[in-house]
Amino acid sequence: MPLTIIFVECGLELIPSVIRKHPSIQKNLQKDSYPSKLLDNAIHHSAMVRLDAAEQRGRPDITHACLLNALGSTANKSGNLKIYLHTFENKIFEINPDIKIARNYNRFKGLMAKLLMENEIRTKNLLLISEFKGTLRDLVNSIDKKEIILLSNKGELAESPLLLFDNDLSKNFVVIIGCFQKGFFTDEILELSNRLVSISHYSLDAWVVLSRVITLYEIANDIL
Ligand SMILES: C[S@@+](CC[C@H](N)C(=O)[O-])C[C@H]1O[C@@H](n2cnc3c(N)ncnc32)[C@H](O)[C@@H]1O
Repeated sequence: MPLTIIFVECGLELIPSVIRKHPSIQKNLQKDSYPSKLLDNAIHHSAMVRLDAAEQRGRPDITHACLLNALGSTANKSGNLKIYLHTFENKIFEINPDIKIARNYNRFKGLMAKLLMENEIRTKNLLLISEFKGTLRDLVNSIDKKEIILLSNKGELAESPLLLFDNDLSKNFVVIIGCFQKGFFTDEILELSNRLVSISHYSLDAWVVLSRVITLYEIANDIL
C-alpha cells in the first residue's frame, strides 16, 4: 500500500495584506511576477516581525527541498507514494506523483504563488496539483486501514528506526512531517495520532527526516 506523506504547516502563503505596504515588500513586489507575491523570510524578514508566528512562516524553501526529495524517490517513481501539502493557512493540496517540480527556486515560488491564487495547477490534460477540500481530519479519515505516525524530535525515540514500518502490505501508513523551521505541531495535528515518534537524538531538518523515512519505507517493502 502506498505511503502517504503529509507535509504540515508549510510556510507557504501569499504576502499578507497587513505588511504589503512595508518598504521591504514594496522593493521586491512586481505586478506581473508570481514569485514576488509569495512570502519569503529571506527577503521579507524585516516586514515579517509584525506577523504572528513569524518563525513558522515564509519558508517556501523547506517545502521545495521536501518535494524534490519525495518526488525523486524510488518509492514515488514506483507508484508507492502519495503526497499532500498542508499550509500555515490550512489549505490542503494533493500532488500528482508525475509532476516535474521546478528545480529552480524562483520558478518554484512562482508555481506556489499561482497555486495559492488559483487553488490548482493543471496542464491542458492533467491536474498536477489539486485542492483537497476539507480538514486534515477529513483527509486522514478518507484513508482506510491506516496507521498515522507524527514525526517530531519531541516524540518517543524509536528504538530501532528500521521497525518504524512493518511490512504488512494491507496497512496504509501516513507520516506527518512539519515543514517549518521552529516550533511544534498544533493541537489539531497532535490529535490525529497518539504515535509521536522521534527518529534521532537530534532535531533534524524536515528534508533530512523525509529522506530517511522514505528510505526506511523502501527497505521495509523491498522497493529498489
Ligand atoms: C526543524 S523541525 C521542527 C522543529 C522541532 N524540533 C520538531 O521536531 O518538532 C521540522 C520537522 O522535522 C521533523 N523532525 C525534526 N527532527 C526530528 C526527529 N528527531 N525525529 C522525527 N522527526 C523530526 C518533524 O516533523 C518537524 O516538524
